Amino acid sequence: MTVTAWAPGRVNLVGDHTDYTGGLALPLAIGLGVEVRGDRGSDWVMLGSSAMEGVAELPLVVSDVGAVEPAWARYVAGVVAELGPDDGLSGTIDSTLPLGRGLSSSAALEVAVALALGASVANPLALAQLCQRAEHRATGVPSGIMDQLTVLAAVEDSLLRLDCRSLSVTPLALPAGVEVVVADSGTERTLVGSAYGERVAECARVEAELGPLRDATPQDAERVADPVLRRRARHVTTENARVDAVVAALGSGDLRHAGALMVASHASLRDDYEVSTPALDALVQELRGTPGVYGSRLTGAGFGGCVVALCDASAALDVPVVWRGRPTGPATLRRHT
Ligand code: GLA
Repeated sequence: MTVTAWAPGRVNLVGDHTDYTGGLALPLAIGLGVEVRGDRGSDWVMLGSSAMEGVAELPLVVSDVGAVEPAWARYVAGVVAELGPDDGLSGTIDSTLPLGRGLSSSAALEVAVALALGASVANPLALAQLCQRAEHRATGVPSGIMDQLTVLAAVEDSLLRLDCRSLSVTPLALPAGVEVVVADSGTERTLVGSAYGERVAECARVEAELGPLRDATPQDAERVADPVLRRRARHVTTENARVDAVVAALGSGDLRHAGALMVASHASLRDDYEVSTPALDALVQELRGTPGVYGSRLTGAGFGGCVVALCDASAALDVPVVWRGRPTGPATLRRHT
């Protein structure tokens, strides 16, 4: 049997560095993604890639995911280890998604591999959690659930309000006449070796003092004794509030206010969470000054990669646009015989 699995990348409109403390986010799937095409049946997984060197060549039982070479094959190995497929897959990986730009190319790869290996999509949350565990095994980075859940639970034309504590997904229609823009700052990033793990640890220290950040208010954050941890807490508490403020603004068609909240989110990620870069700041600034753009901010983990903007469908943009459009649907699988 030949299978073709496709999984989209994602971009987050607002609500970053909130998922790993059970907070809120507002991502969407984009029209760029990863395709895995191959034949099922052997007892090996053998996947070549059009974008990356080397081949992922694995037995169906993988014990040490972190030791697999080449490094990108660890994402495949993590999925194989977590899924325990009955039979193998031999084929190729193609991607229209730029790699290492903060658009969840790793989550898209994990999900596409899982679907091609026969994973069930009957329970998108369970599969998202399986792929999140695969990512942890592949990278050692304690990333949250936003990326994999977005790839699997995406709804065409809608943003997804993710509650990362209850793990519920609430679609919110994107107002008509509006588009989401992803623009590239030109700097590659990887969470391995970034301060991502440090931020997760800092949030754990804040929670030891304040209790769950999801239950804390911005006023509570001001009580944190350590000045660095106080700023981290300020970001998370205000960011959770901004997600619901953006949901309300979009619900009432107030695009200007939604855009202003995105700009406030960028400032918070830059000043309080310290995950921006000069290139991201400059691109956000340029987009903010463009007619027809409602708001712009860094998106995803930061430390480089892309920015997101919300704009009028007629806006003319003079920035390196990677993708522009309306939210797409979730990952899919096709079987051919
Ligand atoms: C990365 C992680 C996500 C999330 C974002 C920041 O994309 O994989 O889980 O934490 O960073 O919001």
